[in-house]
Amino acid sequence: SDNRDLNGLSVMVTAGPTTEPIDPVRYITNRSSGKMGYAVADAAARRGARVVLISGPVALNPPPGVEVINVETANEMYSAVMDRFSMVDSVIMSAAVADYKPKITANQKIKKHESTLTIELEKNPDILAQLGKMKERQVLIGFAAETEELVNNAMIKVERKNLDMLVANDVTLPGAGFGTDTNIAKLVFPSGRIVSLPKMDKLSLANHILDELVILRKGKE
Ligand code: C5P
Repeated sequence: SDNRDLNGLSVMVTAGPTTEPIDPVRYITNRSSGKMGYAVADAAARRGARVVLISGPVALNPPPGVEVINVETANEMYSAVMDRFSMVDSVIMSAAVADYKPKITANQKIKKHESTLTIELEKNPDILAQLGKMKERQVLIGFAAETEELVNNAMIKVERKNLDMLVANDVTLPGAGFGTDTNIAKLVFPSGRIVSLPKMDKLSLANHILDELVILRKGKE
């Protein structure tokens, strides 16, 4: 498309999982492929935005015309996002940030001894919730993968994280969520407005999200 309606906008996108080290050779992670965030970054750049993509470890090619910052852990993603937040006008937080990380990362490879091994976990910072507290004129868009009570949980998250929009998807539906090339999403707004989208490829969903971003940006001018 030759639609350059994001010209002049500066958009930060996060994508992929984070990895949380247990020891030098092992980590905890999740099933995020990064495809959704990469599609958003790609579409935003094509529509004329200046895009910085903060990416966890994924097996995807960087979208053309996008500045990519590679990170591994949630804490690294937190720092990368915070460093750039004041320089962007929109954030689309599609990364599947690990909620917990090992409390201690062993310096040496953990040996097998007993029949059970316990790894204590502690909470990672909630990057998006922190942005919600800091935001001034920025538009803040989050994602939520749910397995139950999709709309209820989405409304609670919009409020609690002070978002302008949440993209909620039921990851139990066929054709939605992790690793797939399609998604089935509901766009949830603080007003209570809900847009239920049909199954579509992730690039199309990215463009729907960016259509709403254009409107949300106008509301902040
Ligand atoms: O609360 P929940 O993890 O479902 O919220 C999902 C949204 O919050 C996503 O946009 C995700 O990128 C963001 N998030 C975050 N930091 C965390 C956990 C989630 O920024 N530690």
